[in-house]
Amino acid sequence: GLKKKEVNVLCLGLDNSGKTTIINQLKPSNQSLFGPLSDDWKHISQTQTQDIVPTIGFNIEKFKSSSLSFTVFDMSGQSRYRNLWEHYYKESHAIIFVIDSGDKLRMVVAKEELDTLLNHQDIRSRRMPVLFFANKSDLRESMSSVKVSQLLCLENIKDKPWHICSSDAVKGDGLQEGVDWLQGTIL
Ligand code: GTP
Ligand code: MG
Repeated sequence: GLKKKEVNVLCLGLDNSGKTTIINQLKPSNQSLFGPLSDDWKHISQTQTQDIVPTIGFNIEKFKSSSLSFTVFDMSGQSRYRNLWEHYYKESHAIIFVIDSGDKLRMVVAKEELDTLLNHQDIRSRRMPVLFFANKSDLRESMSSVKVSQLLCLENIKDKPWHICSSDAVKGDGLQEGVDWLQGTIL
């Protein structure tokens, strides 16, 4: 068959938002013949997600969609490692930005980090798709993706295609919608 186009994706967001859990769900060990997140595999991936620990520095992971081969830089969201993010902006083609929809207290911190990212010289005015996951939608206190997008002022992003999906990374819900959007938006 045709070789899939290779794209680099940077996965960003505060610590504990669920970045590694999301990427882990998309990785080949969770991809069956029936698609990446079929019900048959959810119980297996759920046991795998329980072993996830906070990321130190970053991890590089790979997964494929129907037309693209993704290399993901899964960055640590801890404040002491956030200065690593900018070193990977130039070589990235898209960003996945993960928000813990239940973390009302730190939404303002997430917004600060997002604004700093979007204003960075290596990001600003580039047509770089940004996929937001309003993650942890299963939590009782979680905010809707509409609420999250209002708090982050996403409608102000004019120079990039962006999309927000609500997700439950432990179950895998919402992730495929996001990957489908990315695949359709990356040129
Ligand atoms: P850092 O690597 O420290 O930046 O964190 P991270 O963004 O990679 O978060 P990680 O994937 O390690 O998840 C943090 C915790 O949140 C783990 O205990 C996950 O099991 C949990 N978690 C992730 N996604 C969800 C979700 O959708 N719902 C719920 N309830 N818990 C989740
Ligand atoms: Mg992590």
